[in-house]
Amino acid sequence: MTKEKQKFFIGNAWPYANGSLHLGHLAGLIGGDVLARYFRMSEGDVLFVSGSDCHGTPITVEADKLGVHPSEIAEKYHKEFADTLINGLNFSYDIYTKTTTENHTKTVQDIFLKLYNSGMIYKKEVELAYCEKDKRFLPDRYVEGECPICHFANARGDQCDNCGNILDAKDLVKPRCKLCGTAPIWKPSEHFFLKLSAFEKELSEWINESAGWRVNAKNSSLKILEQGLIDRAVTRDTEWGVEIPMPGYESKRIYVWFEAVCGYLSASKEWAKNQGKENIWEEFWKADDTRHYYVHGKDNIIFHTIIWPAMLIAYDKNLRLPDCIVSSEYLTLEGKQFSKSRHWAVWIPDFLKKFDADTLRYHMIMAGPETADADFSWEEYQKRVNSELIGTFGNFVNRVLAFIKNNFPEGVRMPKKINKEQREFLDRARKCFDLAGEAIAQARFREGLREIFALVEHGNRYINSAAPWTAIKTSREQAENDLAVAGQVIRCLAILFRPYLPKTAENIGKMFAKAAPKDLWQYPEPVDFLVGDIVPLYRKIENEEINEQIGLLRK
Ligand code: MF3
Ligand code: ZN
Repeated sequence: MTKEKQKFFIGNAWPYANGSLHLGHLAGLIGGDVLARYFRMSEGDVLFVSGSDCHGTPITVEADKLGVHPSEIAEKYHKEFADTLINGLNFSYDIYTKTTTENHTKTVQDIFLKLYNSGMIYKKEVELAYCEKDKRFLPDRYVEGECPICHFANARGDQCDNCGNILDAKDLVKPRCKLCGTAPIWKPSEHFFLKLSAFEKELSEWINESAGWRVNAKNSSLKILEQGLIDRAVTRDTEWGVEIPMPGYESKRIYVWFEAVCGYLSASKEWAKNQGKENIWEEFWKADDTRHYYVHGKDNIIFHTIIWPAMLIAYDKNLRLPDCIVSSEYLTLEGKQFSKSRHWAVWIPDFLKKFDADTLRYHMIMAGPETADADFSWEEYQKRVNSELIGTFGNFVNRVLAFIKNNFPEGVRMPKKINKEQREFLDRARKCFDLAGEAIAQARFREGLREIFALVEHGNRYINSAAPWTAIKTSREQAENDLAVAGQVIRCLAILFRPYLPKTAENIGKMFAKAAPKDLWQYPEPVDFLVGDIVPLYRKIENEEINEQIGLLRK
């Protein structure tokens, strides 16, 4: 009998296709790839999806600025994102799509209609901000003012970046047009509302009982529920977006957040179609033995913990609600907020032209905003690469393998009997699979990586004290035994690092001419092995390179 594999759905946030990806984006997304790779290796069945968020004011603002059609911007960056994420950073998406596909439109409109027909979406006339100077309705993001809740002076009409609450432009104190600064007037317009108030009780019970969410996600969601859920407009006055599937609303579109979150479902359907089995998405969405992870930055929390779950409940009770909300905190750059307009950013495509993807993945996990805001500094990045990845990790791997290659060209055999040091070292490697695996499954990525790195450090102590380069002069057998054990642990490392540093892990595996380890998350059977060609794992980062990068920032 074959056991049914546990299913994992992993949804990474969909970046707005209005400008290149920078390090701040990566901070919120990297965890998804670690999860996906880990669950595949531990024999789970994984569906890892994402795509480009092509609609909404972030894209129209950019298009207005450049005087081009929004589709041009969206398409350009969608292509760039796919290349950066998949080829550059090695994200193992099962599908990376976009919100401008026909499949997505159909999925969104179906959800919209079903909710409308069941009364969970209703029509209402509202007064909207209209700028008489610019002669246009102002979307939420085009209205700024004081936050009515925390009194932050520069809140946007859709959300306050200070307290995180979602807002109604109408509630802003002293509102002003983002384009020209004048106070908007309020004009009536008919819109569709999502009856969020109807879900308050159910969501509150569900969130209170949830386990395995990041603390920030649970706390901020509960806070929002405490203040009471209010119905939200899910359409906007714009011509760029998913059309409302009813006649008479040609100048309006479905609100970008309402439709973007539907992407998790539409992408799953598109993936199924690509597999030639149209219905297999249901195995990930409708079965009991499936777990759903959502990975994003903290400004995305409430869309994933309140709005999307409410939509799912209203649309189809059989669809799985999120199990694990993995929301990271913010990343700053050299002490300041990322800013496209002030050119304060490190763009990932530029980064990857000069530096290696795995070094960035490593740094982002070790020093990223997993549970608290964090800062990216070039100097710290350089230090981590040179001292941790090269000095500690690469040094251990290369030292051991090179010594074996040079002194045991016909390979080494596993010892018949092992001593205390060898046993301790192997035991630690064996335990690392459980410890790191558990940490990853619970989205404690840094803890998992530290656990693996501690095994490397143990390796350096082990090899220094075994000192095979001395031992070989008196006992070739002793040296061979110690090296065989070290080699066995390196084979473990080639597995353990794989979710985090896929290319590095592959490169280590390749150095074993025989006995490259399998792609399975389990302690590999010890075998006699031979070392093939040795390659350095990383390139040292020089001071000049770092200075050049810092110089580019300040220009
Ligand atoms: N585009 C949004 C942002 O960059 C994220 C959307 S995540 C989604 O903040 F999946 F819900 F679309
Ligand atoms: Zn104006």
